[in-house]
Amino acid sequence: MTTKITPAAHLAEVQASFDESMNPRLVEILRSAVRHLHAFVEETGMTREEWKAGIDFLTKTGQKCDDVRQEFILLSDTLGVSMLVEMINQRPSDNATDPTVFGPFYVPGAPEKVMGDSIASPGGGGEPLVIRGAVRNASGAPLGRARLDVWQVAPNGLYDVQDPDMAPMSYRGVFTTGADGRFEIHTSRPVDYQIPTDGPVGQLLQATGRHSWRPAHTHFMVTCPGYKTLITHVFDRASPNLASDAVFGVRDSLIIDMDNGSASIDFVLDTEQ
Ligand code: BEZ
Ligand code: FE
Repeated sequence: MTTKITPAAHLAEVQASFDESMNPRLVEILRSAVRHLHAFVEETGMTREEWKAGIDFLTKTGQKCDDVRQEFILLSDTLGVSMLVEMINQRPSDNATDPTVFGPFYVPGAPEKVMGDSIASPGGGGEPLVIRGAVRNASGAPLGRARLDVWQVAPNGLYDVQDPDMAPMSYRGVFTTGADGRFEIHTSRPVDYQIPTDGPVGQLLQATGRHSWRPAHTHFMVTCPGYKTLITHVFDRASPNLASDAVFGVRDSLIIDMDNGSASIDFVLDTEQ
């Protein structure tokens, strides 16, 4: 007579299948993923049809990806996982600037700018905005040679990579601080915009009654030799979507006034351990 195997014994068998691996970190991650997946299936009483629907959803998510569209990042963002990964990895000290999501619209190789240059397209419209501030260490000392890679949406609510009528590298630039750590970036006031909804993630948002808006923001990636890279945004205090960002990226410390054509923020970097 055979004994019926329980879900717990079944899980133990799958966990043991990784015993011979030479990569302990991979095994740690896989064992945890399998444990949580099995618990998820049991806890929800998953039906075969529901599991198949989940697999179809992930298949469509992969099929939506190409060189410029990354639907899996969008899924991770809208489920709050991207923000959690930043929170776990970055853990800023008390004085340091809060990080937020990277998002899918960063493009490497943006044009080098000098302080006071504009990243806006000539004739692109919108409300002119100057963002000023300084890059500092946690003791308040200014950091020279800090590089600020900046990107944002155009006044039409699209990134350059989403709009075939916009010149590549519009609303993008890289600024390098001098010894005073200060920066001055001319742009247009960012606008609230919708994350792409023409794929499976858009369907998921719709099916759960969620909106797809992000509050107006400008992205920054700040690097400086000897310091941890900071990936963050500044958000416009006037945005109506601050309390319901589709990707859960808002932090109070990153909300600034953008009225009257000017805004200011200091970025504080932690030293590299
Ligand atoms: C963004 O801010 O560019 C962004 C972040 C997450 C998902 C979609 C867009
Ligand atoms: Fe953005």
